[in-house]
Amino acid sequence: MSGLNNDNEGNGDNEEFVVTPWEVRGKIDYDMLVERFGTQRVDDSLLGMIESRVGELHLQLRRGIVYSHRDFDLILKRFDEGEKFALYTGRGPSGGVHLGHMLPWFFTKWLQDNFDADLYFQMTDDEKFLFNPDLTLEDTQKFSLDNALDVMAVGLNPKKTFIMIDTRCSRTLYNLGIKFSKHVTFSTAKAVFGFKNSDNIGMIFFPTIQAMPCFLPSLVEGKNVPVLIPASIDQDPYWRVTRDVAPKIGFYKPSQLHGKLLPGLSASGKMSASQPETAIFTKDSPEEARKKIWRAFTGGRVTIEEQRKYGANPDICAVFAYYYFLFEEDDEALKERERRCKTGDLLCGDCKNDLIERIVKFLREHQKKREKMKDILDQVLIDDSFFDSRIKSAAERGFPDG
Ligand code: TRP
Repeated sequence: MSGLNNDNEGNGDNEEFVVTPWEVRGKIDYDMLVERFGTQRVDDSLLGMIESRVGELHLQLRRGIVYSHRDFDLILKRFDEGEKFALYTGRGPSGGVHLGHMLPWFFTKWLQDNFDADLYFQMTDDEKFLFNPDLTLEDTQKFSLDNALDVMAVGLNPKKTFIMIDTRCSRTLYNLGIKFSKHVTFSTAKAVFGFKNSDNIGMIFFPTIQAMPCFLPSLVEGKNVPVLIPASIDQDPYWRVTRDVAPKIGFYKPSQLHGKLLPGLSASGKMSASQPETAIFTKDSPEEARKKIWRAFTGGRVTIEEQRKYGANPDICAVFAYYYFLFEEDDEALKERERRCKTGDLLCGDCKNDLIERIVKFLREHQKKREKMKDILDQVLIDDSFFDSRIKSAAERGFPDG
């Protein structure tokens, strides 16, 4: 995969970074991604529009973690005009879930609660099978069921959440997918996704499948339904292609809210399932979590004396990032922690111990909720039969004409 390398050649002060749906590497320049991907910034005026409707802003909006979008203003305009939107996000089930995966799901729950939206959640068991030589379809299907427990444990509304494991919805996905894929050439796919000649042809068709949930809410309702995708920015290439094709087959273009990636516990890059020590997994024991935080990369000085004298650097600190992204809701308390870090008043050991306590508490609660979700899984997992009944009646109403 080379088509999306965001090498910042020339400007010298930065190491190379890469952000594609399959690979995230190096120190990510999020400003540059907005330019490269051609997205819009979540600015103060947009934040004001959200706050005036909801009455508050989610932590990820307040702190610039959800920082970029496509047509979210249009979603709000249509919402005001009485057109409710549906949410769509997903997960590639290649193993256990870590906190970085969950970040967009917390935000999605907030959107669901505050805009009373249906959520379509795609589990791409097909994708992870096709893209990962070491995984069987049985593996990715097993992970799908396991990961769905983590998804629901964030508190999504089971009456308004529909989890589609791709291979259980294959007829629906394929039958609409062929209409979509006819409009995407191989050269577009290569340019956007960086496919190589040695890639298998399942991979090349797959972007079609990830595009489908952008349109399925419309088929279910029998009319165009605006769709909003809250997801990390690395998924954006999919939506660029989807937005190009949408009007050609009679649908609205999907809108996006893009999030930054939770940094890993090592020096840089995202949390990685292939490097388990850089991420906190939802099934980690308190002891495992403690060890990982204890070994995390910080912005601290070499000696306590130096730190007391000169202070530490929260901007490069993985531990501070965990407070910033997840574990300190209170903006004032966060500022105070930052101040104490910079002045040398707060030492890394104490800061880590605090975080360990919060993470262990979170994990205990999450693991309990996760178990409970086994009872509602059947209720939220959908398959072709869900769509069969609903799409038929939509077709009778003549939608879509594309
Ligand atoms: N491709 C994503 C992954 O590997 C999974 C996914 C499917 C997704 N549909 C999505 C992610 C929509 C965000 C939004 O993780």
